[in-house]
Amino acid sequence: MSSTRAESKELNLTSDHAEPQGRAEKKMNVLDIKNFSAGYGRLRVLHNISMSVQEGNVAVLLGANGAGKTTTLRAISGLIKSEGSVLLDGQETRGLSPDRIARLGLAHAAEGRGTFTDLTVEENLRVGAFRRTDKSEITTDIEKMYDLFPRLRERYQQKAGSLSGGEQQMLAVGRALMLRPRVLLLDEPSLGLAPVIINDLYDTLARVNKELRISMLIVEQNANLALEIADYAYVLESGVISLQGPASEIASHDGVRAAYLGDL
Ligand SMILES: Nc1ncnc2c1ncn2[C@@H]1O[C@H](COP(=O)(O)OP(=O)(O)OP(=O)(O)O)[C@@H](O)[C@H]1O
Ligand SMILES: [Mg+2]
Repeated sequence: MSSTRAESKELNLTSDHAEPQGRAEKKMNVLDIKNFSAGYGRLRVLHNISMSVQEGNVAVLLGANGAGKTTTLRAISGLIKSEGSVLLDGQETRGLSPDRIARLGLAHAAEGRGTFTDLTVEENLRVGAFRRTDKSEITTDIEKMYDLFPRLRERYQQKAGSLSGGEQQMLAVGRALMLRPRVLLLDEPSLGLAPVIINDLYDTLARVNKELRISMLIVEQNANLALEIADYAYVLESGVISLQGPASEIASHDGVRAAYLGDL
């Protein structure tokens, strides 16, 4: 995708993300990542990336296989070592344990779903609330998850391992939401799902964002739907942010269309 990289500097994206228009309406960054690097042992995968998610917004991170998308989310969550800075609501979280970072309001629905297969749907949702400080409204929130994902209500006593792929993905998102996070990181939520299920899932994610006011950072390869619900988008190439801008502009960018949106 060298064309995208070449154009990255020229694309003067007038984002209200980077430059809020009305100063009075300036939104806070709920997640602010600066000069961030990470890798595995001696292998450096991320090279000094900077990205942010504004409060109430959805950001999407696009990139080819092996670009470093999952590594980015894992490093933000404290699952692997990193350098640089990660501010969650203005508080530095880099170097803290994954558990501490989750308690500060960062939920991560990992690639490959990761539900507890031997637990029921409802038990999985309760596990999601485990790190919450406020335990009083857990039952109410489980009801909210069932409203968002009616299939989970129908199967509340079923073991997660016997759910369909789409249902497991819904449960993974529901479980992450039970933390009542400030930011939800989603790693390829559409992976392996049929188009109609992906549509439903994205409708629900849009509702979660609008109605529960949860900010999100979504990693996707099949990016059409993610860009539709997103406010802002980043493209990661070989561990470097090669392009960024308002989601609508990224969605109409030729290089992005060719590489990530299935256009020839
Ligand atoms: N545990 C690991 N140990 C060593 N190298 C790893 C490990 N996990 C990932 N990598 C390497 O880091 C690079 C980035 O991987 P990553 O999983 O972040 O890519 P990705 O953008 O999420 O790709 P995909 O779209 O295939 O999920 C790859 O070259 C991969 O081989
Ligand atoms: Mg990945």
